[in-house]
Amino acid sequence: MAEQPAQRYQEAPTRTIAAADAVFAYRRYGQNTGIPLVVLTHLGANLDSWDPLVVNPLAEDREAIAVNYRGVGGSFGQIRASIEEMAGDMIAVIRALGFDRVHVFGLSMGGMVGQALAARDYLARLRERTSARDKHVTSAVYRAQLAPILLPQQLDKENNTMRAFVFDKYTGPLHEAHIPEPTVGDRDVLVRVVAAGLNQLDEKLRAGEFKQILPYKLPLTLGHDLAGTVVQVGAHVRDFKPGDEVYGRVRDGRIGTFAERIAVDESDLAPQPKTTSTAEAASLPLVALTAWQALVERGNVQSGQKLLIHAGAGGLGSIAIQLAKHLGAHVATTASGSNADFVRELGADIVIDYRTQDFEQELSGYDLVLDSLGGENLERSLRILKPGGKAIGVSGPPDPAFARNAGLNPIVRVAVTALSSKIRKQAKKLGVSYEFLLMRASGEELREITALVDAGIIRPIVGKTFPFDQTPLALTALARGGFHGKVVVTNP
Ligand SMILES: NC(=O)c1ccc[n+]([C@@H]2O[C@H](COP(=O)([O-])OP(=O)(O)OC[C@H]3O[C@@H](n4cnc5c(N)ncnc54)[C@H](OP(=O)(O)O)[C@@H]3O)[C@@H](O)[C@H]2O)c1
Repeated sequence: MAEQPAQRYQEAPTRTIAAADAVFAYRRYGQNTGIPLVVLTHLGANLDSWDPLVVNPLAEDREAIAVNYRGVGGSFGQIRASIEEMAGDMIAVIRALGFDRVHVFGLSMGGMVGQALAARDYLARLRERTSARDKHVTSAVYRAQLAPILLPQQLDKENNTMRAFVFDKYTGPLHEAHIPEPTVGDRDVLVRVVAAGLNQLDEKLRAGEFKQILPYKLPLTLGHDLAGTVVQVGAHVRDFKPGDEVYGRVRDGRIGTFAERIAVDESDLAPQPKTTSTAEAASLPLVALTAWQALVERGNVQSGQKLLIHAGAGGLGSIAIQLAKHLGAHVATTASGSNADFVRELGADIVIDYRTQDFEQELSGYDLVLDSLGGENLERSLRILKPGGKAIGVSGPPDPAFARNAGLNPIVRVAVTALSSKIRKQAKKLGVSYEFLLMRASGEELREITALVDAGIIRPIVGKTFPFDQTPLALTALARGGFHGKVVVTNP
């Protein structure tokens, strides 16, 4: 090589060289003998960051070349976002300088770049000599081992994957995973999830309680509620475009809002309310749709009717109370004594402390009960209804109409129907009725709810928010309870 290195680092001029469609700044110094040493800088450093006391001894008996990464110091180009890309650049620089053999030295991040750089060469040679019995060191193994030190987002981009929270087996823990990017169908909207509301349904699914009714393939990404921004739309989508802010409860069979992105059937979505935060919007869909389907669709609640809404301080109850009041009903609710003021503020006319009072002793002649507890609570609820009154249960047991419409196989259908035979008999004897409700996704109904929210009639209640990274913790918090309204994870 014609270029002569300076003796000492501090005297070496900064030069530039074009390689890999960019321009890299470098300095050469030391003795022009033997195999040269490439010196790779640490995180956020450039050529001027090196202390001569550190780098001069490296070149006492050879030449050393210190190089800036792309976009750093005197180098041009977009800063690289992965160690592997930086290693690719350094290989290009080494070749452009005319070397076919170098030693590499790096500090901190420079060490990682050096490892990645050396590993490429190593893997190429390894492929040539690997015999069948030893084939388990592959570039896949190398990538997997390198993954923790690569920027995860960059890795996702390269692999066309994204971060999500999944469980692998029923009762197994919710954990982070890198799953394939969603496929966007003709009627789908790809949404970047900015906030995801948690529901007891998520926890029940994980616990395996819905195995028969909602048979999912595992591993499963959890999450039913979302609020976020439209990224892309399918060919036949008419109502949404990229950039729109939407929210919704995604339909059964296509859940998975605890992820960075999700493809959602457009009919499950509605524009976000204008008067709420994104987290508040994400708290609404499942519970607000349940309240709507219970009180408006099934209950046909009329002004002046008497309603008992159980668990008024919870996610569902807190919205149901507000909707019932809007419909003109007289509302009684059950809650812990400490939540009495909270449910009164939401509009409850009568508050029963379920820990110290027996609602059956306090209430009678009711038109409708919304029961979210099931079991004995449901049985006792039947006895406060007036003749012709109705109890709607959202925690079961499932009734024959549900078993018929859910597309269950005949054996499961018979078994599911049998679960409610006792409560149906009790209801018949009292001259009242019992219906099970498993809510469904509906962008159309959600638009009705949006209007009520923007009119100040329904106020979302977010009890606790967690960052996306802490989704498993958020699910544990939801299962433990102890706050008003809903739990939401956010990924702004
Ligand atoms: N079938 C469906 O489509 C559907 C839809 C939505 C919800 N659900 C089900 O409905 C249930 C409630 O959901 P959620 O989202 O409201 O849950 P949540 O936010 O966790 O609320 C649970 C509430 O239950 C209250 N509670 C506990 N024991 C009670 C008792 N003995 N009497 C009265 N209240 C009691 C607690 O009140 P305090 O804090 O005052 O103690 C708490 O606020 C869950 O089981 C969920 O799966 C079903």
